[in-house]
Amino acid sequence: MSHTITTIGIVGTGAMGRGIAQVAAEAGLRVKLHDAREGALDEARAFIAKLWDRGVAKQRFSQSRADALAARFEEAATLNELADCELVIEAIVERIDAKQKLFQQLEAVIGERAILATNTSSLSVTEIAAACSRPERVIGLHFFNPVPLMKVVEVIPGLRTDAAVIEATEALGQRFGHFTARATDTPGFLVNHAGRAFGTEALRALAEGVADHVTIDRLLKDQGGFRMGPFTLLDLTGLDVSHAVMESIYHQYYQEPRFRPSALTGQRLAAGLLGRKSGEGFYRYVDGQAVVPDEPAAPRATPMPVWISAEDADAQRALADLVETAGWPLETGATPSETALCLLTPYGEDATDCALRQGLDPARCVAVDMLAGLDRRRCLMTSPATRGDVRDAAHALLAADGTPVSAIHDSGGFVLQRVVACIVNVGADIAQQRVAEPATIDRAVELGLGYARGPLAMGDHYGAKRILSILENLQAASGDPRYRPSPWLRRRARLGLPLTATDAQ
Ligand SMILES: NC(=O)c1ccc[n+]([C@@H]2O[C@H](COP(=O)([O-])OP(=O)(O)OC[C@H]3O[C@@H](n4cnc5c(N)ncnc54)[C@H](O)[C@@H]3O)[C@@H](O)[C@H]2O)c1
Repeated sequence: MSHTITTIGIVGTGAMGRGIAQVAAEAGLRVKLHDAREGALDEARAFIAKLWDRGVAKQRFSQSRADALAARFEEAATLNELADCELVIEAIVERIDAKQKLFQQLEAVIGERAILATNTSSLSVTEIAAACSRPERVIGLHFFNPVPLMKVVEVIPGLRTDAAVIEATEALGQRFGHFTARATDTPGFLVNHAGRAFGTEALRALAEGVADHVTIDRLLKDQGGFRMGPFTLLDLTGLDVSHAVMESIYHQYYQEPRFRPSALTGQRLAAGLLGRKSGEGFYRYVDGQAVVPDEPAAPRATPMPVWISAEDADAQRALADLVETAGWPLETGATPSETALCLLTPYGEDATDCALRQGLDPARCVAVDMLAGLDRRRCLMTSPATRGDVRDAAHALLAADGTPVSAIHDSGGFVLQRVVACIVNVGADIAQQRVAEPATIDRAVELGLGYARGPLAMGDHYGAKRILSILENLQAASGDPRYRPSPWLRRRARLGLPLTATDAQ
């Protein structure tokens, strides 16, 4: 039997509840609002009215439409007044006991066929439902902040949720104009699960002393095309929130090494360095603006002969073009001369291992990250044995045409390779665990995390085989199971299939 939804209830009208109320009214629903705190409803209504007023001022819609929208809200002073709602969404405090108690109270009030939806981001929908006499009517409907702008909602059936309830909830999400991402009831669901790699791997690179946070942010933004660097993002979200999410998902997966948080965040949290909201996080904020040190100027160097490893033919060609354009002498022999600067192009290997494996003198070797090409920013990496004048020469060469260059210490996978490989690997494992369909994973991540490509498409963009070898090299050198490739990635890379491919049958 299908569910018709014309009236919904929203309990908890804070940051999330008010956003959900706004999109529900805009979708033509009658919306009943309840909050335990006095004054909360007025604040929520005033907040939404202001947004609609702005819409009127910008001539996006008429005053009469704004008035009609506001008239769709009704106050429910008590839970009893939600009796005629066909669906109630809770967006109250993130505590299992509070949510279970609320749903028990609501079950005593609402109709036989009414649906109970939770906006929880970290609790189990199944566990919340378990406290209800009819768990089959309970579902997760997980929105993102701010709801009107974040056009994705995760639809999370609990283990006992009815098929008709899933269908009705999905239809509602679509009516709100959101992409509905159906995902299983697993820790972090889909989007927050997929978002684990970006911050934790960047923190790991920082903790290893590979580069400072500013450099890591610049590399991921410019080379990786991420909207903002991981440390800018951590500052924006606030460590009080991010640290808790990192710890919660790690523990909910029983210390899965892929999600292992960094010791850095707990200590920074203790120091009150929360981010933008406390005036200082990884960056310091003055008048709401991050204080970002200027980019260090490229060193000057006298041209020296340059030899480029032939291990990656495309990379060798691109670097040879760059050497010729800069007017530096290019060595084209199979091995370098005694005086050459040697450019290496490793994937997942550090400069030390890459130089030694090729029988080169590490003192004259500099590694260049070629994963994303040379266009937007270049990253060079040196082994502990690389001479200072050799590093400076490589830096000057790479900066000769004005493209920014970041120099980092030795690291398997530079910064971009290791972070991208971890994002792809976590995304692949989400597909492996059948948390969601491959196309859903990619679209939900694009919308929910703002990545230009979802993790599977990202892997296909850079090449699944390449991502696999980055991870294998990282795992071999570090011995850390964090980098073990997901079977989803390993099999598809070996079979030459796209990462977005489901099984052929
Ligand atoms: N803020 C986010 O980015 C975000 C994103 C996705 C999901 N969520 C989830 O949404 C829920 C709400 O988060 P928020 O950020 O809107 O919180 P919030 O603190 O801004 O708002 C919560 C509101 O619920 C009210 N409330 C608390 N307990 C209540 C109860 N027992 N009965 C009625 N009202 C009650 C509070 O008075 C408050 O107005 C949480 O489960 C949270 O995990 C938050």
